[in-house]
Amino acid sequence: MRTLYVMDPLSSLNLAGDSTFMLMCEGTRRGYVSAWCTPADLHAREGAVAWARCQSVGSFPVHNDGPRGFETGEWREVPLTDFDVIWMRKDPPFDMSYIFTTYLLEMATWKPSSAGAVPSGTRVYNDPRGLRSRNEKIFALEFADLTPETLLSHDINRIVGFTESLPGRVVLKPWDGNGGRGVLVSQAGDPNLRSMIELLTSEGRQFILAQRHLPEIALGDKRILLVDGEPAGAMLRVPSARDHRGNMHAGATVHPCDLTVRDQHICATIGPILRAEGQLFVGIDVIGGYLTEINVTSPTGIQEINRLNGTHVERLVWNAVEARATA
Ligand SMILES: Nc1ncnc2c1ncn2[C@@H]1O[C@H](COP(=O)(O)OP(=O)(O)O)[C@@H](O)[C@H]1O
Ligand SMILES: [Mg+2]
Repeated sequence: MRTLYVMDPLSSLNLAGDSTFMLMCEGTRRGYVSAWCTPADLHAREGAVAWARCQSVGSFPVHNDGPRGFETGEWREVPLTDFDVIWMRKDPPFDMSYIFTTYLLEMATWKPSSAGAVPSGTRVYNDPRGLRSRNEKIFALEFADLTPETLLSHDINRIVGFTESLPGRVVLKPWDGNGGRGVLVSQAGDPNLRSMIELLTSEGRQFILAQRHLPEIALGDKRILLVDGEPAGAMLRVPSARDHRGNMHAGATVHPCDLTVRDQHICATIGPILRAEGQLFVGIDVIGGYLTEINVTSPTGIQEINRLNGTHVERLVWNAVEARATA
């Protein structure tokens, strides 16, 4: 297979933690020809035909003691439809540039013809339409029984009112955050509450989520990786004593965990939807049995989960890609 990774610059990767690097290594191991580029290297010309200015790349296989790194080759301009598989692995921010990248990637999946678009045979993962429309925090809200009570609003009074309606604490978070950025905990009667909401909403101009605080976060924020809708591995990110957030950026530590009956129910509920939508590699976050995020935009966790469990999640991912290619 010929594969392309649309991603952040290779030089910015942390090879000891990056999931895209694992996908590349496994692709190289399987003998695929790989190239990489950033979103800025994509363009469309001659109508809606998308091209990449990309560099060939081989990744050293990852064994515990083996070398880790890349061998890069020449830069070339290649039509996206020349690739069998394209991975969109650019990290957030989710902004207009990200959205336009998804339009260009969608062009790879069809070819313009006099009668309109016809399928090109190129597969893009995750499906660019889902990357564009499936906000990780809002997608989760579709599953009423699985998510904690949540308000999405930029109305300061409404958010204060929601907080007062909760028996315990509230979590306030930006709709487009990641890595725990800007996630605050408060409660009714907190003299800082209104001021925090003003800050997070930029004086009532930006949407935020207000959500019932789940005390079970003390036990950890569970990341479950789903490969074509099936659970492929999990880890628990336990907040440090100094920070409420279960994000590794915020000092949370990772621990092995099992999937509870409730976790399996969550996976069985959302898995078929992810599969049907071509969301091949997804990371969901579960706190105390409640679904808080469905991450379709470049989820991570492969290396941590492999280390904890002695697994090779990247192999499951490529097995799923190959199964789809021959289906
Ligand atoms: N409903 C909640 N109850 C308790 N803690 C929460 C809740 N939602 C978020 N948090 C805390 O904030 C962290 C980050 O929240 P999350 O919704 O996963 O946003 P991000 O995309 O920034 O990771 C979580 O790991 C957890 O510590
Ligand atoms: Mg999270």
